[in-house]
Amino acid sequence: MLKYNNEIIDEVRNSNNILDVVSQYVILKRSGRNYSGLCPFHKEKSPSFYVSPDKQIFHCFGCGEGGDVLGFIRKIENISFKEAIETLAERANIKLPILVNSEKDEKIQKLKSKIYQINEIASEFYQKNLLNPNSKIAQDYVKKRKMDMYTLKTFGIGFAGNFDELYQELKKREFNDEEILASKLVLKSEKTGKMYDAFRNRLMFTIKDIKDRVIAFGGRALDDSKPKYINSPDTLVYNKGRHLFAMNIAKRCGEKTIMLVEGYMDTISLHQRGVHNVVASLGTALTEHQGRLLNGFEKVIIGYDSDSAGQGATARSLEILQTLRFDIRILQLTGAKDPDEYIVKYGSGQIKKAMENSISLVEFKVKKLKESLDLDNVSDKIKFLNELSKIILQVENDIEKEIYISKFSEQYKVSKESIYAQLNKLQYAMNQGNKILEKTNAIKRNPSKEKQENLEKETSRENLIISILLNNNKDDFEKIRNVINIEDFKNEKNRKIAEKLYEQFEKGNINNVMDLFEEDEIINHITYIMSIDFQIADTQKTKKAIEDVSSKFETEKLHDRKSEILKKLASSNLSSEESSELMNELNSINMRLKK
Ligand code: GTP
Ligand code: MN
Repeated sequence: MLKYNNEIIDEVRNSNNILDVVSQYVILKRSGRNYSGLCPFHKEKSPSFYVSPDKQIFHCFGCGEGGDVLGFIRKIENISFKEAIETLAERANIKLPILVNSEKDEKIQKLKSKIYQINEIASEFYQKNLLNPNSKIAQDYVKKRKMDMYTLKTFGIGFAGNFDELYQELKKREFNDEEILASKLVLKSEKTGKMYDAFRNRLMFTIKDIKDRVIAFGGRALDDSKPKYINSPDTLVYNKGRHLFAMNIAKRCGEKTIMLVEGYMDTISLHQRGVHNVVASLGTALTEHQGRLLNGFEKVIIGYDSDSAGQGATARSLEILQTLRFDIRILQLTGAKDPDEYIVKYGSGQIKKAMENSISLVEFKVKKLKESLDLDNVSDKIKFLNELSKIILQVENDIEKEIYISKFSEQYKVSKESIYAQLNKLQYAMNQGNKILEKTNAIKRNPSKEKQENLEKETSRENLIISILLNNNKDDFEKIRNVINIEDFKNEKNRKIAEKLYEQFEKGNINNVMDLFEEDEIINHITYIMSIDFQIADTQKTKKAIEDVSSKFETEKLHDRKSEILKKLASSNLSSEESSELMNELNSINMRLKK
């Protein structure tokens, strides 16, 4: 992997104040020396996300994510460390040096840029081909789907012809077979060794990334033949779980709401009719990467097909979106199976209305519940009331609860009183249940409780040591090293951190601690330690803390050694020399312990 050197990384880091950068994504409020806000990395109602301008770090006590300004950009934009450096360098107007690649990297980079070129040429080739008089069937299809010229251009819609037409074009442009095959737009027959185009006789949709680079294609059959769509496989420049179709356009729409649809045609059809806040996940269930691409929007409407596949995808996508911090809505369409059909039939005003009226997660759950039940049947109605109450109970806000109760009571013809009665019953049962749970936990936990507490004490003592080491003071380091060995750290993360820090101090060149580790787990732990206010800011206190901790470590070691000796002495097969030696050691340990 090619890397920028530490000096340039430091320069980029120092030129981007974490407070300014984070403020572009999170509303922060001052609290003491720090700032806090709602964590952008997990869903929460009260702020546990902190930014420390002094230490130039962020840390969330809710989900544990933490890091410096580079880590923040990397996580929130879902990009690599290198890309984070590049992004922040640009923000601070720092010119980065051109990296010298190792041979293998250089080859991959070159191949990547060839694939981008090939994709670009292929997109233009398909588009030109669509306008060719020989492509009448494709032109008829485009007419049938009511796509206009502007749409054809915006979405790079074209037509893939026959045999190896694209291959021949690419050869003419002097790409070699290795490059052409790496694009996966041309395949090689295993039997004959002949090259042939991967997409033939299909209407082609160009897929671009958010930087407007052509990364892949989707090809639709012009009739009912199967498969309906062929999509590009993953290549060096395309990973299908990491992109959203039309995000390059939608991100410029300037709205706070974005709608997620299933297909190319849904997206295209809506954009053509003036609804620009739409992207597609292209038939697959939404991934976390795709979810994070939606960062920056507040409300996400899921507008999947009303068929069972679409509903299944809705459920899976909901799970992903719920862990991220979005106001989630679910589009409800009547009279059409998908957004494309709906907007063609009823127009853009109607779909905008439907988007505004899309329902919340709670309403969606209740709707699903109702679908499986017959409310005219008494036992179903009881079941409905019971499940409905469980769903309402999960709503945290009391006012919201009230609103839902009124709404559902009206919508499903159940009296408010019966909902309240059921809620009370559930609440009572839950309280009883919790009491029992607490009791059994208390019984269960007791024997190991002491052990657990010891472990926690030990870890927090270790954390204190690490926090002192992180202050980069050579004297403190030496004091600590004299009494604490790497192996003494029982917590694995602390051990790893201590090992690196000791190494640094020995060498005498101290780099930014964030650059020493690659694992997020460790960095999160470091920011955790840095964020806890140990109140050892002044030197007097630091000195005292080290002494305390050191003596505790020493005492513990002595105790350990003592019990080891006692064990040995108890075993009979010792020579008299050995046992007198052990006795002497025991004596001196006892003396030291008394002190
Ligand atoms: P139309 O039927 O032309 O309106 O297309 P659509 O975009 O509405 O597609 P549909 O809702 O049927 O499917 C949603 C998405 O799933 C498509 O845009 C494709 O990305 C994907 N998809 C659909 N059918 C297939 C298939 O047969 N194979 C593959 N690989 N993907 C498919
Ligand atoms: Mn469709």
